[in-house]
Amino acid sequence: MEIHKTINGVRQLVRSWKKANLTVGVVPTMGFLHEGHASLIKRAKAENDRVVATIFVNPTQFGPNEDLATYPRDWDHDVSLCEKLGVDSIFNPEPAEMYPSPFFTEVEVPELSLELCGASRPGHFKGVCLVVTKLFHITEPHKAYFGLKDAQQYFILKRLAADLNLDVTLVPCPIVREPDGLALSSRNSYLNPVERQAATVLNKALTAAKEAIDKGERNVKTLLDMIADIVAGEPLAKLDYVQAVETVGLTPVTRIEGECLVAAAMWMGKTRLIDNFVYLWRKN
Ligand code: PAJ
Repeated sequence: MEIHKTINGVRQLVRSWKKANLTVGVVPTMGFLHEGHASLIKRAKAENDRVVATIFVNPTQFGPNEDLATYPRDWDHDVSLCEKLGVDSIFNPEPAEMYPSPFFTEVEVPELSLELCGASRPGHFKGVCLVVTKLFHITEPHKAYFGLKDAQQYFILKRLAADLNLDVTLVPCPIVREPDGLALSSRNSYLNPVERQAATVLNKALTAAKEAIDKGERNVKTLLDMIADIVAGEPLAKLDYVQAVETVGLTPVTRIEGECLVAAAMWMGKTRLIDNFVYLWRKN
């Protein structure tokens, strides 16, 4: 496994693979890797001859009052997990390699960033779009792997790739969960044991709404109220938002029809956690 800190280094490696007619998959991450990241890497390994994992805590996607300074890191663990999973190269640039001064360019999909996490975290998706566009240009992959844990991120990046004719196929991957349903997240490491236990309420609430849809409930207000009530039943939890949107323009819907994303964020103490499900409903 080759570790590259420079754009040129990883670019030359990928180009040598492509010259040999090998296919390349990339898995962009911010490190502190867990089984959710591992599932993306395994899928990339299964579908490509070579896999690059990028590990970069991207400063431009953190707001001024967010957790950039404290974002968890464990380089040795990340390297050994990547090695174990058969990653061919890790791209791990310093911020100055990605954002040399001066730097002025912006990349954004504003229409898709208005709701959900886009509303709670102004500028967040602008930073994500910028870094992922750069990572695509640097690693020139055939395929790129993203988790549906961050569903809005996936839908935005899919639109970005289509609108800008990027020659890369985005592959959405299912959410990996703890046995009690909590979605794996690097930020779960911030939770104390009591908060960790209480954090399961988010998935419980979403699961209850999903079951209600299965039973025929289509009214979004009823479903969102149900989720909010269940989260309110956990004294340690504070709901940030819960919304249902269609999956093309990410605009709010009033009835569950076609493909909808039902997503929520909540605060558990100082930790912000997100979860969601995508529901595909077709008339018989
Ligand atoms: P990060 O939070 O490290 O996540 C990297 C990838 O792992 C994302 O595609 C995310 O959706 C996926 N992932 C995280 N937890 C998951 C889980 N429980 N199940 C399945 N997939 C999961 O997302 C980012 O980094 C950044 O925004 C990035 C795209 C790297 C740009 O900086």
